[in-house]
Amino acid sequence: MRIWISIFWLIFFVCFYSSFAQELESYKNCAECHVQNVADWKTSRHAQSTPATNPFYAAMRTWADQSTDGVASAQCDRCHVPVPSLATTTEVAERLAHEGVTCDVCHATQSDRNWLIVNPSGVKYGPYNDAISVVHESEYSEFLVSSRQCLTCHANLESAHGFAFCSTQKEYLASSYSKKGVTCQDCHMPSIEGKTAELGKIRQVYSHKFYGGYNPEILRNCASLELEVSGDTTQWTVNVTLTNRTVGHALPTGSPLRSVFLSLSALDVDGNVVWQNYKVNPLLEDSTAVFMRVLQDEKGQAPVPPWLATKIKFDQRLKPDETRELLYKIPGPGVVSVFATLNYRLAPPDLLKKLHLDFEPYSDVVTIATAQSNLK
Ligand code: HEC
Ligand code: HEC
Ligand code: HEC
Ligand code: HEC
Ligand code: HEC
Repeated sequence: MRIWISIFWLIFFVCFYSSFAQELESYKNCAECHVQNVADWKTSRHAQSTPATNPFYAAMRTWADQSTDGVASAQCDRCHVPVPSLATTTEVAERLAHEGVTCDVCHATQSDRNWLIVNPSGVKYGPYNDAISVVHESEYSEFLVSSRQCLTCHANLESAHGFAFCSTQKEYLASSYSKKGVTCQDCHMPSIEGKTAELGKIRQVYSHKFYGGYNPEILRNCASLELEVSGDTTQWTVNVTLTNRTVGHALPTGSPLRSVFLSLSALDVDGNVVWQNYKVNPLLEDSTAVFMRVLQDEKGQAPVPPWLATKIKFDQRLKPDETRELLYKIPGPGVVSVFATLNYRLAPPDLLKKLHLDFEPYSDVVTIATAQSNLK
């Protein structure tokens, strides 16, 4: 009985599949066999990159259009809605556009240096050189497993004034990781042993969750935080040491919306805060403790988005492997301990308020590391 069911599915898929083989396919066509890949990818930002699926992107895209007379959105969609630029029919372009960076954007394409090109044979490119599937051709692709694939989109596409949107390329290429041959996939697609498809072999299966700024797991301890306190009860000197430990590019990278910031507070014997490096907005009150790239426009206004920017006001992000020291003098009386946290934020709270998006997950503050020093 089981063999007949298997044969039925085989015939069904061969017929079903061959009717789509020349075009990009929906992720739904992969779900039957590549169960884990599809489940992972669905939770990833790649599956939520379009105006229809990501309210944050939709709001920023609308703003970009308003301030560039409708010019920016086509440029934005190049990476965020890649299917229409790859599909050969409007039917497919429209049906799959909202799938964002869907399976076939990566698995049915090779590179023409500037953009991806679809192989019309319907071959699926992957990391194996011995994969056999009855429903599609399989081929090893050196391009797919290289950082170049990711950098097709995570690169330095520039706005009219020359400011990169959502970029990572330069930071990564200058890092020790890229020199050692550590790829984006090595860090962002960790593998475990298993089957990639029900009928396949036991092999390495790669995570398709693409963890980044939305995932505390990859952020936790990606930088270390240490405190050294000297002085006495009249004044303490606090030396804060931060090290970018596990990040293969600047911390943070990608969109200029992202920021990492240090919160430092001095506590009395009852645990009350008697001093802190900022109260409300670290960027205004203690800008050296904010690790981000701030862009300004021609009037010197900052922060502004890339499409309005003419100059970098400052770029204080932590480079790969970089160690940064910050020095604070804090009042001594009553202080018994000093407490620090290094935090990550997807976007500035005032921007989220302006866009009516001041709720989770956008407003979450994730802790990267903490440190405490008790004074004698
Ligand atoms: C952003 C690009 C990207 C997207 C989107 C993507 N993949 Fe992958 N996939 C890769 C890369 C890169 C590898 C190989 C990883 C490596 O070698 O480190 C891979 C590996 C695979 C493999 C073989 C090994 C394994 O991990 O199972 C399968 C099968 C696969 N992907 C299926 C899918 C399916 C199905 C989808 C959609 C639900 C999808 N992929 C979406 C980039 C992508
Ligand atoms: C009927 C089941 C089935 C369907 C449907 C299916 N695949 Fe596969 N696929 C397989 C099998 C089986 C393998 C080989 C696994 C092995 O050798 O371990 C495979 C291998 C792969 C590989 C690895 C290729 C290599 O050489 O490394 C990729 C990538 C892939 N599939 C992507 C997809 C994508 C994307 C879709 C949907 C558009 C899809 N597959 C639909 C069964 C299927
Ligand atoms: C076709 C364009 C494209 C390709 C190719 C691509 N990405 Fe992405 N990626 C995006 C876009 C767009 C987003 C942002 C989606 C959103 O949140 O709106 C994104 C988001 C991500 C994120 C999540 C960032 C966060 O803040 O959570 C990670 C991690 C990531 N990509 C890694 C990769 C890796 C690794 C590869 C190569 C295997 C890759 N990407 C290939 C377009 C792409
Ligand atoms: C050595 C490991 C490593 C390598 C190599 C690496 N990353 Fe990351 N990446 C991380 C860690 C850790 C984080 C989480 C910290 C952070 O948000 O910067 C991260 C975060 C990200 C984010 C989220 C944006 C942010 O900073 O908030 C994106 C997008 C991303 N990486 C893309 C890439 C791409 C594209 C490549 C290849 C060019 C790459 N990464 C190479 C470790 C790595
Ligand atoms: C060259 C490709 C590319 C272009 C062009 C591009 N982006 Fe992105 N965008 C990305 C990638 C890759 C990420 C993920 C990086 C990260 O998480 O920091 C991203 C992330 C974002 C995010 C964060 C999404 C989230 O859910 O947190 C927003 C918002 C965004 N882009 C808006 C835009 C707007 C608006 C434009 C046009 C003015 C644009 N992008 C143009 C590639 C691009």
